Amino acid sequence: MKSNTQITPVPFESHRGSGIHLFLNGNRYIDCASGTFNVSLGYALPEVTEALHAQLDRTAHLSSDLTRPKSQEIFELLRDFLPDHIESYWFRDLTGSTANECAVRIAQKATGKTDIVSLFLSHHGQSITATGMSGNAFRQRSFTLPFAGSLKIPAPDCVNCFYRQLPDTCGMLCARRLEDFVEFASSGRVAAIVIEPILGNGGNITPPVEYFSVLREICDRHGILIIADEVQTGFGRTGSFFASNGFAKDLKPDIITFAKGAGGVGIPVAGVLMRRELDVLEPWEHSTTSGANPLSLVALEETVKYIRSHNVLDNVAITSKLLKDGLIDLAMSFPQVGNVKGVGLMLAFDLPSALGVSRFIEIAREHGLIVRGSRYGFGNTVKVRPPLTVSETDVQDILDALRSSLEQLEGE
Ligand SMILES: Cc1ncc(COP(=O)(O)O)c(C=O)c1O
Repeated sequence: MKSNTQITPVPFESHRGSGIHLFLNGNRYIDCASGTFNVSLGYALPEVTEALHAQLDRTAHLSSDLTRPKSQEIFELLRDFLPDHIESYWFRDLTGSTANECAVRIAQKATGKTDIVSLFLSHHGQSITATGMSGNAFRQRSFTLPFAGSLKIPAPDCVNCFYRQLPDTCGMLCARRLEDFVEFASSGRVAAIVIEPILGNGGNITPPVEYFSVLREICDRHGILIIADEVQTGFGRTGSFFASNGFAKDLKPDIITFAKGAGGVGIPVAGVLMRRELDVLEPWEHSTTSGANPLSLVALEETVKYIRSHNVLDNVAITSKLLKDGLIDLAMSFPQVGNVKGVGLMLAFDLPSALGVSRFIEIAREHGLIVRGSRYGFGNTVKVRPPLTVSETDVQDILDALRSSLEQLEGE
């Protein structure tokens, strides 16, 4: 039997978006889910949409052979924002799922090994391989997913520690036990570990920064590549261009995947960035009809340019502090609110139960705010992730709406 969807559909023609606002059936909402966490620069940003209109008037499609020079130009633009050791790219994807599959192909071909380690509570996409390496049963239950080399290890979730440890004294056991899994649970041929710097769908789980250096050291010792899945954390979301050159820089990933926010206004585009020696794929080994299409590349290019020319990362630094401080204040006012977590504008808090979160999302909608919960894990997380162009005044409006919604929830 099918389950119900959460969102009530509206007549298609009734919708419109502008900046951080989404208008549905005549109602105005602040979209604190940034679409599906992909509308990073807000809806219908003219600097991006005008370039898209101009491209549509030229062509909507060109074969990826013909768009190769544009991909190279965009990579040169991106270089200023990349960790120094990342020197190659593959821009032929439209979704995070296939970008992660591309990373798996690269890791397997480059190392000649098979296994891919991932984390409990992770989400790497919905294609067969990406579902197979994601750390939750509910998306897998009905299928036989043929991913023999997938190996999952406990996530760095200090609030619900798998090993029942405390962060100050645990010695990063969740990272260190990787060696046992490699020794006793793998095929002995581990190609890579894939990790989201913040486990987004898992409940915005934010590892302590030491986790990243311990993991890097273990992977170096065992010749395991690190793939940073930055589908949610990339393109400014955590305040640096990638988490891998910001709060998670000690991870020093060999491969970075991106999607979602890279299209700025919601245009699908995804890609893979890697060390030069991992540039091992032939064009026919990972490509699709619409990969590297001109509309996606234009959206990607304009997004990078906008982030740079409009100091979007500085805006994230200012607004994220206001928002996080405001969430901490709410946690002090409402006993139900706890575990304020996240970095940059990838923030969240917990409520006591998953049921409470469902009700809170409905109430917030009545107060003009779109927020999302987390179906993964414990299901009791509310994510607060407005577009990166949010202003200080908007943040105050968001906090006011959250406060009124919490008051209503408390009163029920
Ligand atoms: C961290 C992460 N990786 C990969 C994906 C898959 O991306 P897509 O839905 O574009 O295939 C998602 C989607 O939610 C994600 O959050």
